[in-house]
Amino acid sequence: MSSRLDAARPETAPAETSRFRPAIHFTAKDTWLNDPNGLVFHNGLYHLFFQNNPYGNVWGNMSWGHATSRDLLHWTEHPVAIACDETEDIFSGSVVVDHGNTSGFGAPDSPALVAIYTSAYKAASEHHGTQAQSLAYSADAGMTWQKYAGNPVLTRNSAHFRDPKVFRYQGDQGAYWVMVAVEAQHQKVVLYRSEDLKSWDFLSDFGPANADAGEWECPDLFPLAVDGDPDNVKWVLIVNINPGAVAGGSGGQYFVGHFDGARFVADACSVAVPGGVSALGDSAAAAEALQQCLWLDWGRDCYASVSFSNVPDGRRIIMGWMNNWDYANQLPTTPWRSSMTLAREVRLTAVTGSTRLIQQPVLAGPGGEDLDAVRSPVHSGSFELQDSAFRLPEAVPGRAQIIAAEILPAGAERVTFHLFGNDDGSAGTVLSYNAATAELILDRQRSGDISFHGKFASVESAPLVLEDGALKLQIIIDHCSIEVFAQDGKVVLTDLVFPEQGSVANHLAVTGGPSTIQTLTVTALS
Ligand code: FRU
Repeated sequence: MSSRLDAARPETAPAETSRFRPAIHFTAKDTWLNDPNGLVFHNGLYHLFFQNNPYGNVWGNMSWGHATSRDLLHWTEHPVAIACDETEDIFSGSVVVDHGNTSGFGAPDSPALVAIYTSAYKAASEHHGTQAQSLAYSADAGMTWQKYAGNPVLTRNSAHFRDPKVFRYQGDQGAYWVMVAVEAQHQKVVLYRSEDLKSWDFLSDFGPANADAGEWECPDLFPLAVDGDPDNVKWVLIVNINPGAVAGGSGGQYFVGHFDGARFVADACSVAVPGGVSALGDSAAAAEALQQCLWLDWGRDCYASVSFSNVPDGRRIIMGWMNNWDYANQLPTTPWRSSMTLAREVRLTAVTGSTRLIQQPVLAGPGGEDLDAVRSPVHSGSFELQDSAFRLPEAVPGRAQIIAAEILPAGAERVTFHLFGNDDGSAGTVLSYNAATAELILDRQRSGDISFHGKFASVESAPLVLEDGALKLQIIIDHCSIEVFAQDGKVVLTDLVFPEQGSVANHLAVTGGPSTIQTLTVTALS
């Protein structure tokens, strides 16, 4: 971990970075953040705890920052919830609402919130050199926290055992707590069970499989009904990996399978490479195999995604860190650095011969009602484009907006959105559908400031299958990010961009043949 600090360059205080501050993505006011932690819904509030350096804007002094929201779009930051001290850094973990007061930290009529986090022990600790799992609890609905005196509650005497995600499992033998965590350097998810959150018994492990050429981090495991069918419930195991993700550096993969209360077994169709891609070395076969793995996101900037617990109505909502360890400490913003992705509701759907996760950004209330962050859309009617470009309507001054389009590429070779373009067209981010390769490609090589790190300028691609001949895109652009939800959320791609001042033009262009633009909507975000 210390290499992250060593890699951080001294703060150069760029002159003006407030224009990059996102409109609808969470950032800490004036500090560093990484992984979302302890995502939980309680008493009408979504709590977002997060890896935070309270003293700076590079990684270090890891503590849990805290923010709350009623709609997952407007956030209020609170004081640090769980602070590092001379003996431990507070690494990633989760929060549960202990409804049955199994831990004894609350009372039956006022359940405690219990945080299960990784103690990354420092030199002053008797546990120095290990990472182990610890508890903290809150009796005031998450606003203040006490560390449990009996910490750590689970150790393996391992230096890389971390990121516990805990959930309540209800099976034939009753209910108990299940923890998924990682042995990061062995590419293993390890599962434990507990009656009281304090004493844990080993259940099983999973991995390596699929992408394994980096550390496995921040796992999650949850059930979902396939296409909403309660008689066909499958389990999703999320495994984040750094480096070794499909777009390079950090990313999130997932497996679909079965969990019987003790062991997760992945469906054969979600395992592209049973022993793990790294056995194939640095070969073309390995690159090809990586494409076959199931990815939460095909972009460079979606990492450490995990889900909220205790969300009503069986909804499953995930959120990730919109960044990549390749260059995270060097992003050209100050005093804040890094943001979260939008919250995304996930569902499972059957596709030919397989089951896939689909994701939709949460931009409306649970009943579908409009949130006040989302203003009324500007529509364009159906029209043809061929070897020409169309300037998208500007819904409001500013750059935070949702572009939604349904396009029939028909004979076109490429359908391209030029985003954050400048006046002479020499700069911009290029998002295109390539008909010949059936790929969605995002090219940020001329997206603005790419100078802060050699690995930032990049081109990402994702396989994309037209549906009834249609390309369906929802593109959410905020002041320094582009999140693309394609084909109703079957393909998701997230990238940061840092456009030059004044690069605000968005165009749609079609080349190599005609396309019908069936619908095109631009919605401003306040
Ligand atoms: C993932 C991660 C976790 C760890 C935390 C430390 O980004 O490396 O594995 O708990 O960040 O900040």
